[in-house]
Amino acid sequence: MRDFFPGLAGIPAAKSSISFVDGEKGILEYRGIRIEDLAQHSSFLETAFLLLFKQLPTLHELERFTWDISHHRRINDRIIDLLKLFPEQGHPMDALQAAVAALGMFYPAPDVQDETIRYLTAVRLIAKLPTIVAAFAQLRRGNEAVQPRDELSFAENFLYMLTNQIPDPVLTKIFDVCLILHAEHTMNASTFSGMVTASTLADPYTVISSAIGTLKGPLHGGANEAVIHMLEEINSADRLTMYVDNKLLNKEKIMGFGHRIYKVKDPRAIVMQTFAQQLDSLGNAQSLFILARAVEKYMETRIGSKGIRPNVDFYSGIIYHRMEIETDLFTPIFAMARVAGWLAHCFEQYQQNHLFRPDQIYDGPHHRSYQPIELRKPHSN
Ligand code: CMC
Repeated sequence: MRDFFPGLAGIPAAKSSISFVDGEKGILEYRGIRIEDLAQHSSFLETAFLLLFKQLPTLHELERFTWDISHHRRINDRIIDLLKLFPEQGHPMDALQAAVAALGMFYPAPDVQDETIRYLTAVRLIAKLPTIVAAFAQLRRGNEAVQPRDELSFAENFLYMLTNQIPDPVLTKIFDVCLILHAEHTMNASTFSGMVTASTLADPYTVISSAIGTLKGPLHGGANEAVIHMLEEINSADRLTMYVDNKLLNKEKIMGFGHRIYKVKDPRAIVMQTFAQQLDSLGNAQSLFILARAVEKYMETRIGSKGIRPNVDFYSGIIYHRMEIETDLFTPIFAMARVAGWLAHCFEQYQQNHLFRPDQIYDGPHHRSYQPIELRKPHSN
């Protein structure tokens, strides 16, 4: 009898030097640097450089990378036209996935081993994802897309395109840290999906659109959106125990909790919780932070002993909600950050490529004969 590992749990699928996670101790490092350190001292673009090029950039390298990203933010008018064709009520992750796949037709990059093309493709993808997300958000509100501004920082420019206003510096900083914390996370589902695509030597646009599709699901990046829907459904602290008890009784998941690797609280959730708390005293949106804390406390008494604790998606949604960002944009924002990690894995895969082609254990029938259609009986379910 061959061993079978559902969900490939615990099976290494690659060797990688991009990030490291210790799920027992709650440690996450990008290229050997703790995320808490990066959250405190770095910026999203500096972190993206670290992930892609293995080292923190020198001042000159960072200036050049920042300049390149800032000057590739614009998207072709025909991509805007494409976004205009999508239904306003369509999910922005679908719009993003389709637009990223389309980018590959405007900037073909078939030679995946050419370092110059790879650099330019990485720059384009990191630069243009926020423009696509913000453009779709504006278009579905009935507005024109807001053009990016080269002189604004990465986070500032995205929030500007989304709201048509220069954002508050405190919010901009918090948003930038959220991007750092979402930029990479070892062999997760979307990264694996991108790597499988990269292993066929498909170009990075195709790789990133595969990864975006995988990120969308509620068990992965879609959880940040689902957390807000859950908290809105719970609505008040007196309904919380009943809600959680019912879910657990019906073997349903509490969104934003649990992780395949972490058995302690996700270190990213710890940093985000601090910001969610800080934001709680600002802004006008209804605060979900207090309710979220109550859910966390109750969940600890119910299933904390099983190692099911808040993950990155639990507090990130609360931060974006507090910033008055539309809920269905949370996962596209996750993608805007994670593209850095996806690209790092994609390039690592190209360099040490071996086509992903796993095996399966067949458990269906054999030796069935073909039956003519007129002799077939209705299937009983
Ligand atoms: N709420 C209630 N029970 C849970 C939860 C949860 N959120 N997570 C796991 N469990 C229970 C599950 O019911 C099962 O119980 P039992 O052993 O009694 O059958 C046990 O824990 C193992 O769960 P699993 O789903 O088999 O474990 P997994 O390693 O496949 O789960 C997970 C990882 C993230 C899919 C799962 O924890 C989950 O569905 N969480 C909710 C969705 C979520 O927040 N996803 C974001 C993940 S982190 C960031 C990201 O990737 O985007």
